[in-house]
Amino acid sequence: MILPAGPNDPLETTPMAPPDHAVEPAAVPTRVLFVCLGNICRSPAAEGVFLHLLAREDLEHHFQVDSAGTGGWHVGSPADRRMRAAAARRGIELTSRARQIEAADLHHFHHVLTMDEENLAAVSRLARQSEGRARITPLTSHCRRHAAPAVPDPYYGGADGFEEVLDLLEDACAGLLASLIEEQRRLGPPGTDPPIRR
Ligand code: 4NP
Repeated sequence: MILPAGPNDPLETTPMAPPDHAVEPAAVPTRVLFVCLGNICRSPAAEGVFLHLLAREDLEHHFQVDSAGTGGWHVGSPADRRMRAAAARRGIELTSRARQIEAADLHHFHHVLTMDEENLAAVSRLARQSEGRARITPLTSHCRRHAAPAVPDPYYGGADGFEEVLDLLEDACAGLLASLIEEQRRLGPPGTDPPIRR
């Protein structure tokens, strides 16, 4: 005989509010900062390329993305016109305004990606001075198709330089995103504080 499930049936599940300790913590987005010298060519392009990938994968809510320069000459300016035009031809819009990196960035961002040796040295120095905990890595270390030690500065060169920058950035940002997704999968969402630097 099959009895209808009733209030005493142990198999009948009653929806219950989860206990307080089981409430999921609000997910903390991984905070990523791209850095170059002037913040008008390479790092705004890296920011745009990375945001473009996030939009394509519907992952915008998992990341907070920004860019900055180690120098302050162009603060407040939009990205270089040549860089914006080259990015637009690939369907990528660059909307950022230049700003200079500050000590607080090394406490706020989980990952700082630098374009060349000079940026890496300047950001590492600032991190030491400010005891910032962001993980600082050369962006090209995430390339999977290109073997390049740096993203070359295109500012004083010709149109080809901007295309070369975008080729490298598309490769590196795809590799970076794959590695950060893997990191989130392994460790869960990041804490509110950046990790201790290696
Ligand atoms: P970025 O390029 O570091 O990729 O933004 C540069 C932009 C401006 C200058 C140098 C590099 N500048 O000397 O004004």
